[in-house]
Amino acid sequence: MLNQSFLPGWLYRDEEIHRLDCTLYANHFWHPVAAAADLRPGQSLAITLLHQPLLLTWPEGEQPRAFRNRCPHRGAAFQADGEAGKPCRRLICPYHGWTYNLQGELLAATRESDFEHGFDRRDWGLHELPCRLDGPLIWVSLNAQAISLDEQLAIVHDTSNIPWSAAPIQLRQVQRSLACNWKIAHDNTLDDYHVAIAHPKTLHREQGPVRQYVHRFSRYGTLLETPHPDGGRFLTFGLPPWSHLLVWPDGRIALLEFLPNLPSCCTMQLRLFAPTETVDNAAADAWLEQLLTFLEEDRVLVESAQLGYDDTFNPGPPHRLEQRILHWQSIYRSQLSTAAGNKLERNHDAISALRI
Ligand code: FES
Ligand SMILES: [Fe+2]
Repeated sequence: MLNQSFLPGWLYRDEEIHRLDCTLYANHFWHPVAAAADLRPGQSLAITLLHQPLLLTWPEGEQPRAFRNRCPHRGAAFQADGEAGKPCRRLICPYHGWTYNLQGELLAATRESDFEHGFDRRDWGLHELPCRLDGPLIWVSLNAQAISLDEQLAIVHDTSNIPWSAAPIQLRQVQRSLACNWKIAHDNTLDDYHVAIAHPKTLHREQGPVRQYVHRFSRYGTLLETPHPDGGRFLTFGLPPWSHLLVWPDGRIALLEFLPNLPSCCTMQLRLFAPTETVDNAAADAWLEQLLTFLEEDRVLVESAQLGYDDTFNPGPPHRLEQRILHWQSIYRSQLSTAAGNKLERNHDAISALRI
């Protein structure tokens, strides 16, 4: 893996690549869109993913489902985005009143006998998307051709003794805007070379001595395993498309994502989970504060790196402690080079750089 080079700087600022990141690359994977505890049977919840309005529902006695939050009649949203699910028996469009059940079937359209060319409710169901509950999260894919969620999460599922399904309570959720391409922030969080230098009093204390770092890789994920100073293992997973899971020996889990926004701007989203009632409010605040302190140290670095990544810049050389970055970048390359081959034909130099 170490004879591979890093992605060239132009990929971190190009408009066309940004568009491909948000469509072709993003559509190849699943996205954690809500905490499992935020939606209960008999509820609905509207959310936005990559500027797309989505609607989650949980029909009684079934599994959660996901739909475009877009009425098939004239495109209006059924609900405004919310923080948590709300009780809902029917989805009623606020525009002309078409009414759906939580399975996405049209139950009634206003003045239904007066349509000009006949009308069959079965032609007007909601556009459904793949949706799954896994661990403490609800996952959605924007495309039926995405890899399976089991493949995407294989390294998490295959790691023994992690409280993936036993940490159902989401304690905190925060977002911050970062003035960098999402890939710089994602690379940085996969970068095990900088922690001792850039975070000596924060993350480095959780991760312990660099000589004890152990790496593991699955097809799509990476894991850094380190001994935690309080005993047990501290686990840092890197997952596509832009996620990181930090797992403490006491069962706390942090999910960190870097969602693309503009070519030089992304949104950092942090969610904190813990097993039921093991963390009180004050402890949750202290935990959040601790994480935001090291993430602020990273913000300064990634925003400065963004300014350095101009069209002539090629980062490197790869270090043994940067293997997780190379692993992820090889996934990214293979996803994007197919798309770039088709969509960026006019720029041959750009494509060959991508295929290095
Ligand atoms: S847009 Fe929904 S009923 Fe017309
Ligand atoms: Fe960092």
